[in-house]
Amino acid sequence: EKGGYKHFMLKEIMEQPRAIEDTIRGRINVSEADVVPEEIGISVALAKSITRVYFVACGTSAHAAMAGRYWVEQLAKVPSTVEIGSEVRYREPVFSPTDLVVAVSQSGETADTLAAVKAAKAQGAHVLAVANVLDSAIPRASEGALYTHAGPEIGVASTKCFTTQLAALLMLAVYLGRRRGTLSADESRRVLGGLLKGAQDMRTVLEQKDKIQFIAKKFHRSRDMLFLGRGTGFPVALEGALKLKEISYIHAEGYAAGEMKHGPIALIDEEMPVVVLCPKDAHYEKTVSNLEEVRAREGVVIAVCTQGDGEVARLITPSISQIPSRSPRQNFALSEPDVIEIPEVEPEILPLLTVVPLQLLAYYIADYKGTDVDQPRNLAKTVTVE
Ligand code: M6R
Repeated sequence: EKGGYKHFMLKEIMEQPRAIEDTIRGRINVSEADVVPEEIGISVALAKSITRVYFVACGTSAHAAMAGRYWVEQLAKVPSTVEIGSEVRYREPVFSPTDLVVAVSQSGETADTLAAVKAAKAQGAHVLAVANVLDSAIPRASEGALYTHAGPEIGVASTKCFTTQLAALLMLAVYLGRRRGTLSADESRRVLGGLLKGAQDMRTVLEQKDKIQFIAKKFHRSRDMLFLGRGTGFPVALEGALKLKEISYIHAEGYAAGEMKHGPIALIDEEMPVVVLCPKDAHYEKTVSNLEEVRAREGVVIAVCTQGDGEVARLITPSISQIPSRSPRQNFALSEPDVIEIPEVEPEILPLLTVVPLQLLAYYIADYKGTDVDQPRNLAKTVTVE
């Protein structure tokens, strides 16, 4: 039932284009450049009247929620925040009847997220669940549900549920933006057009799996790894670090690239690979300057960039002193820059694509290390304890 793959995780990574297609199918009206209201789980009246979107989630779902927050602010201009379920339930959060709480949970059963939903409801907030499991506890406790159609996810490390959550949250942001008059039909057409071809673009990224496996082989003995990104690349950096620690047990940290100078830069030396997400977006130049700072400290960079970006490849090509002496042929391979290219897409689609190489990198590193990829130690698929 692993479909010929060695692990469920790899199967689920490869299934992502299909999962995205299933999640958006029937929910986008192309001629109207809009999201179909009946498919979203909240009424048009509510979409118009809310004054805040408050995302609650844990783990990977919280990373998807962070991207959702950026989109809701940008496309629908609603003040938004993301809170971790366990933090909401044990403090004294303040909700109001004009809040839309969006509870993001693959399983729909996470105890901390469910408790946060109940606290919000008790104060009169509206709650929308974004879940993958039909009729699970969180959708049942919510007023509406926007289901992702990823299909069952068996691997403990979440992959296809994350990218389908991104697709669902992007549709939610467009829906809110259109109802609230903050998103023009042209802009909506641009974003939804990008989403409609997102699955195909993802297939192009997946085609590079052998190259990513090669990079994983090179770095699987690392003790630590740093992931940097800006904008929606920041939650993707967090997600890349989480994937790596969950299944390979390598210590990894994700950071907003702009935070590097506030601390993590002290960690950089030739021993620590730094994965930099630097697609051609509004943050490109800033992120490339972070990449140069890493290189200036002899740091080793693995870059995820836009197809044909020769500049990034040039900047990260290892210097001769960084190449351990081996046979000339090996030296040649080792001096190749570790660049993973993604197609040029609308900026909103970037996180759906840039996370894919990070999932594959974590997967192949764990596989080289021989860990139990689908059932990593100490972790449960559904966390129903506090
Ligand atoms: O079922 P949920 O989406 O609510 O689960 C939340 C987290 O427990 C989950 O994302 C966890 O972090 C995964 N192991 C991530 O790979």
